[in-house]
Amino acid sequence: MVKVFPSLLSADFLNLQQELKDLEAAGVDGVHFDVMDGQFVPNISIGLPILEAVNAGTDLPIDVHLMIENPEAYIAEFASKGADMISVHFEATPHIHRAIQLIHTHGAKAGVVINPGTSVAAIEPILHDVDYVLIMTVNPGFGGQAFISNSVEKVAALQAFKEKFNLDFDIEVDGGINAITGKKCVEAGATMLVTGSYFFKQASYQSVVEALKSTAQPSE
Ligand code: DX5
Ligand code: ZN
Repeated sequence: MVKVFPSLLSADFLNLQQELKDLEAAGVDGVHFDVMDGQFVPNISIGLPILEAVNAGTDLPIDVHLMIENPEAYIAEFASKGADMISVHFEATPHIHRAIQLIHTHGAKAGVVINPGTSVAAIEPILHDVDYVLIMTVNPGFGGQAFISNSVEKVAALQAFKEKFNLDFDIEVDGGINAITGKKCVEAGATMLVTGSYFFKQASYQSVVEALKSTAQPSE
């Protein structure tokens, strides 16, 4: 069954402790934590002190999505402050293999992320080494944007590679995910849905988790 990771970017930051309790009660699989530096993406979000607080406030796995330049310089600190999973953008470093190794060295699961303008073929050499691949389904930097529809083909291409080489990395999608776009992605092979603005505007978190998990079933 697909895993649901709400993006804390759309949570109520004044009531984060309660939000985390509500997410746990709703049955989410983890939380997605978006780090933006105003350089790699044109926005600034949350960082190490908030990660530390979130880690103290929940046992849910924390998936840290680094939208920053020079990500290698910060991996150790994000791992030590509670990141269970860390993903780095292929576009943010000339040394993606080293960055993935570094994440593993610090005991976290390692993911590679690609922007909408980057092809799946570009990351093929690293796919045997990652625990997950994040396919951006919007341009990174902001919540609330519209899903880019040809992302579904990229998920399918990644799934085909995964089957061909009998690999078991997760396929995560992030940006504009709702019940409709989530279903399309899962049918193409996605195993993790990140959802921000759609998720947090729902009256019942539990209902939306159930809806995402039940409407989004793999096609086979
Ligand atoms: C965008 C972030 C996303 C964002 C998703 O740069 O990586 O995780 O929070 O938000 P929605 O679901 O609103 O597109
Ligand atoms: Zn994200």
